[in-house]
Amino acid sequence: MMFKEFPVGNGKIIQGDCVDVLKTLPENEIVLAFTSPPYLNAINYEEHIEKLKGKRDRWDRKEVSYDEYKQFLKERFKELLRVIRPGGHNVVNISPISWNGERTALPFHFVSWMEEIGWKFKEDIIWEKPIARDRRSGVLLQHPYPGYYYPSLVAEYVFVFQKPAEKEGKANIYWNRTFEEKENNVIDLSDYQGEKSKNVWKIRPVAPQENIHPCPFPIELADRIIQLYSYKNDIVIDIFTGSGQTNIGAEKLGRRHIGIETQSEYIKYAIRKINDEISTQTFTFEEKR
Ligand SMILES: C[S@@+](CC[C@H](N)C(=O)[O-])C[C@H]1O[C@@H](n2cnc3c(N)ncnc32)[C@H](O)[C@@H]1O
Repeated sequence: MMFKEFPVGNGKIIQGDCVDVLKTLPENEIVLAFTSPPYLNAINYEEHIEKLKGKRDRWDRKEVSYDEYKQFLKERFKELLRVIRPGGHNVVNISPISWNGERTALPFHFVSWMEEIGWKFKEDIIWEKPIARDRRSGVLLQHPYPGYYYPSLVAEYVFVFQKPAEKEGKANIYWNRTFEEKENNVIDLSDYQGEKSKNVWKIRPVAPQENIHPCPFPIELADRIIQLYSYKNDIVIDIFTGSGQTNIGAEKLGRRHIGIETQSEYIKYAIRKINDEISTQTFTFEEKR
């Protein structure tokens, strides 16, 4: 199968279903994946784009069973495992969501699905959003009695998985770097004693007017993951790239990058934003000279 590829900066975005696109990529080459999977029952991306184009004023949810969703995710993250280098990481931003009116423990089920297909669980990071967008906690204000507690949701999970490496020591893709590579990739620890050394990260979410995508994650989240788990010039992939926040972070940090996305409208937007990032960098560089 042939897929449309859109080269941009140090990387490219490929249009297609990631399960098929991943099959065309070489084995054991990519150092890091960072993504947030689509919530298939919650957002209908095709209809969201028609709304963007003014062709409809709302979108409807899709009928997808939880079991179908589980298969969707397992198939795609299994293909991802093949292309990641042994010892490389796969970082996933995921949250509990409602399914048929019930709140599901999706992130916790997801960890066991990932272990079943061969990923090793490493870290659980909480992304804390300083602002609550929902009013769940208002229920207790109206009914201040036991049984009415619905806290406002201000956190999402960021899980880190690793592709097992045969020989932990020798094959470790981080320890085998040259002295020069390490020196070129020193992580700035100036504010490390603050929150970065802990597994709760407070990062402002993207406001709706800042991005056309219905659920982007902040570039700052991508930046942190990319700096902590890859070196300059490594390949970073996002298999559900949406508005390209991972690609932007990777471009900014001197990594090569691949995004995979089904919707051409999001791809066009992502390319525009990556190019904006490149021109800002050139501008800053010229200003400094
Ligand atoms: C949660 S959003 C990702 C948002 C992205 N992290 C950002 O910051 O913009 C999931 C994206 O996956 C895309 N998508 C859905 N199914 C896909 C598939 N099978 N293969 C690739 N992309 C898919 C959707 O169009 C949507 O843009």
